[in-house]
Amino acid sequence: MDDGVDVELEAWLERREQFEPPEEFVEQANITDLDIYRTFEENWPHCWERAAERLDWERRWDDVLDSSSAPRYRWFVDGQLNAAHNCIDRHVETGRKNHAALRWVGKRGETETYTYGDLKRETEEFAAALRDLGVGEDDIVTLYLPMIPELPIAMLACARLGAPHSVVFAGFSADALAARMENADSEYLVTCDGYYRRGDALNHKGKADRAVRRVNHDVETVVVDRLGGGLPHSLADDQHDYDALVEAHRNATVEPVARDSEDDLFVMYTSGTTGEPKAVRHTTGGYLSHTAWTSHAVLDIKPSDTYWCSADIGWITGHSYIVYGPLALGATTMMYEGTPDYPEKDRIWELVERYGVDVFYTAPTAVRAFMKWGADHPAEHDLSSLRLLGTVGEPINPRAWKWYYKHIGDESCPIVDTWWQAETGGMMITTLPGVSTMKPGSAGPPLPGIDARVIDDSGAEVDPGEAGYLVVEKPWPGMLRGLAGDDDDRFETEYWTAYSNSEADEWTYFPGDGATVDEDGYVTLLGRVDDVISVGDHRIGTMEVESAIVAVDGVAEAAVVGADGDLIAYVSTERDRAGDANLRRAVIDGIEDAIGEIAVPDHVVFTPELPKTRSGKIMRRLLEDIATGEELGDISALRNPEVIGELRARLAGETRSYLE
Ligand code: WTA
Repeated sequence: MDDGVDVELEAWLERREQFEPPEEFVEQANITDLDIYRTFEENWPHCWERAAERLDWERRWDDVLDSSSAPRYRWFVDGQLNAAHNCIDRHVETGRKNHAALRWVGKRGETETYTYGDLKRETEEFAAALRDLGVGEDDIVTLYLPMIPELPIAMLACARLGAPHSVVFAGFSADALAARMENADSEYLVTCDGYYRRGDALNHKGKADRAVRRVNHDVETVVVDRLGGGLPHSLADDQHDYDALVEAHRNATVEPVARDSEDDLFVMYTSGTTGEPKAVRHTTGGYLSHTAWTSHAVLDIKPSDTYWCSADIGWITGHSYIVYGPLALGATTMMYEGTPDYPEKDRIWELVERYGVDVFYTAPTAVRAFMKWGADHPAEHDLSSLRLLGTVGEPINPRAWKWYYKHIGDESCPIVDTWWQAETGGMMITTLPGVSTMKPGSAGPPLPGIDARVIDDSGAEVDPGEAGYLVVEKPWPGMLRGLAGDDDDRFETEYWTAYSNSEADEWTYFPGDGATVDEDGYVTLLGRVDDVISVGDHRIGTMEVESAIVAVDGVAEAAVVGADGDLIAYVSTERDRAGDANLRRAVIDGIEDAIGEIAVPDHVVFTPELPKTRSGKIMRRLLEDIATGEELGDISALRNPEVIGELRARLAGETRSYLE
């Protein structure tokens, strides 16, 4: 079936079929009553207590919501709780000490299992060590680690102490790490010596050391010895060996610090429309309630489940749906360090079979890769343990949706296509798997209690089928509370608008996505309306990449666009240097140094000129259309139309040379 036409799949596509949740799923689903939408609407905002009640509170909240300083909303006002207690201790206390909390599979096939009891001990020992190093409440601890168990352990150790963490994706460069530590004023760093990539040992500590040298304040560093003899390293006076610290704190106890609902649990850097990444702040009460609730309602997680989200913990998806959500519910969460095609392209399915995974959550780009590799790979394995599938990060096209439904889910697992962002903290728009009809390609209706709409420039709701801006009208518990190390202005101007035609003190949140909505209220996402590109499970700001490129000697201008999941850089040079391999190398090195390998474009197209309007603005939309091979829209504003043919030819040449 790999290369031939899948007749059934094609027929489905023709019929634009919708899908009902399979009966077997509904019978056991956490949420089965369609009435939940109405109940939430009628009882808003009190409906959200249902989310908070999934947690243990040290002190119950007085009010559900305080809107008096909108858009600085406060949720579960004056409540107190600790996230580590909720994700670990309470499960140990209720007889689940020996239940597996975390199953880790390393790049070389190593495996480790941590029970809730293990996780409690490990996080407590590391929390004690951090406390001895001076970490106290509200100190931001930066975690710069690959997908190893010490990452969630360190996150939970910070949460136990009330110290917000700032996880920086391990693929980011020294410069990017330094900028984040500086911005957050973070004086503590947890990192490791190195890790393997495609069989090679990468020196991670080298990057961390370079970053710390660039930070303008003192930093205490903890180094996890990931590679042992594989990559010998030495420690300076302000650097501590993780194992030695933990050893020195064997069996230490650290009481979870009761945090106010509104105290920060973590900050998370994410790309915006300006050159500087920004750190969104997430709070203990609202964020944890939102992620626990959506893990229950949307991912249908039961404490007995083995659940696997294939994201990296360095991104928001991993925070919310590898660590906090599933652990708050007491499930077994998988953590996979490797890649989906190593050692073979059936790796994911082999692990699903081996561990009896119940729920699998991934990105559409991964589904498209599975599809390309062929249905034979999943067919080699018994995937009958799967009950529910999910996607996140970008729209999933109906063809990929149906392939996933058929070849992974065996037509018996609902699929949830979940729209949300780093700023929303948790899921916002998706079907409820035991309740809603699924329409492939459309994320679904807003979740109960979420007031998302699609509006036009004047703020009026668009008609069904018409494109507009996605907005969220009412606050929600998982929402960002502000930007760390920043003034109020940027938070307000980047995200919020108060429309004169809405009720007083009602602010509208702008996620930056275009969308349509159909007669049933199902939202279909059309992509970003700003200069942010979503690739797989993370996003990249075009401005960040462009500033890295124009900093290279010989480059005049650059425009970076996204096309079908690829990142493409159009670079104009001072003289035509299309064939200059050194310049190409310099551009790639420049991006790797400023941001990291993840931001290196799939294609770099050198051009004598970029397409510009008569007023001198680069026409990005046109560059996108050229890259995707779309019909070009209106180009009457273009000053230099002759550049189109040239760019097409060069992109084609670039693509060919790339494939060779
Ligand atoms: C995009 C990742 C379509 C969107 C959780 C959003 C999606 C950005 C979907 C956030 C989806 C996320 N369908 N687009 N189901 N989910 N997006 O902050 O453009 O890394 O604004 O959060 O990804 O990316 P972020």
